Amino acid sequence: MAGASASEIRTIGVVGAGQMGPGIAQVCAVAGYDVRLQDINATALEKAVAGIAARLDRQVAKGEMAAGARQETLARIRTGTALESLEDSDLVIESAVEKEAIKREIFERLCPIVGKNTIFCTNTSSISVTMLAAHTDRPERFMGMHFMNPVPVMKLVELIRAISTDDATCLTVEAVVDRLGKSPVMSADYPAFIVNRVLLPMINEAIYALHEGVGDVAGIDKALRLGAAHPMGPLQLADFIGLDTCLAIMRVLYEGTSDSKYRPCPLLVKYVEAGWLGRESQRGFYDYRVEPPAPNFRGLRPV
Ligand code: CAA
Repeated sequence: MAGASASEIRTIGVVGAGQMGPGIAQVCAVAGYDVRLQDINATALEKAVAGIAARLDRQVAKGEMAAGARQETLARIRTGTALESLEDSDLVIESAVEKEAIKREIFERLCPIVGKNTIFCTNTSSISVTMLAAHTDRPERFMGMHFMNPVPVMKLVELIRAISTDDATCLTVEAVVDRLGKSPVMSADYPAFIVNRVLLPMINEAIYALHEGVGDVAGIDKALRLGAAHPMGPLQLADFIGLDTCLAIMRVLYEGTSDSKYRPCPLLVKYVEAGWLGRESQRGFYDYRVEPPAPNFRGLRPV
């Protein structure tokens, strides 16, 4: 049986109130979908709703949204700590931590909870969509739906068909992306898809440039901002994405292609080992405990 058609998607479940889930919940609610946002951490859910409310307040203050619409949007979002809170979802977008075993478990547990026509999407940035689909009872109604950070701002959603995905599911998800006001690009189910396949080696190379002393933190970022018109320098962007996520994506590229050109820079590995994971943890290639953030560089060579 084919998946739900675009017009039948009324309620969207979002798993994970971490880095991207709240943004995904926000754009879905703004587009008029009822949203169920689930996370095992109740504090993360509170923080997510407060963040969404604050971003909508900004839109109201700038005259981009009416106060009434803000209220209606927030009222469309329900939160819950149990996966059962997603039971009436027509589409579930999983945006949990980027760990294969956790994502597999979430989908396995969701299968008996949601309706049999519910479409599953994963916001994975690099894990095989086909493999995740195969661990569900509906591999033909399963897709990759990869949002970019910050979700409310970035226009792109990469769509990844598993080898098992049927045409109806693909059409439905494309229509949802359109209703969210975003633009889809189809990517094959290859390690890291399109954006991260190109972006992360660039970031990794910037870290090599730092590691080898080609430039310093501020210089490398300024060079790419002013010399290549990037909105953020690559080290600033690495901190924004999260250095643990950057490393995980490089490892997927390295292992998934068996190509040494994707080897993660040892300096990136060391920062992650130090717990300097970027903006979220207050320290990465910049130190965010001071304003404005100051470059934070420790080389690996003995002094
Ligand atoms: N969440 C929501 N909205 C945000 C935001 C956030 N974290 N950060 C900024 N914004 C919004 C602001 O509210 C502002 O909106 P308005 O124009 O409506 O006021 C707008 O973005 C611009 O913000 P600022 O003026 O404060 O700052 P800026 O002009 O420097 O833009 C930026 C900020 C949009 C983040 C810009 O620096 C940028 O585009 N950076 C690159 C982002 C990028 O490359 N993302 C892709 C990462 S890769 C990825 O996500 C895939 C993966 O799997 C790792």
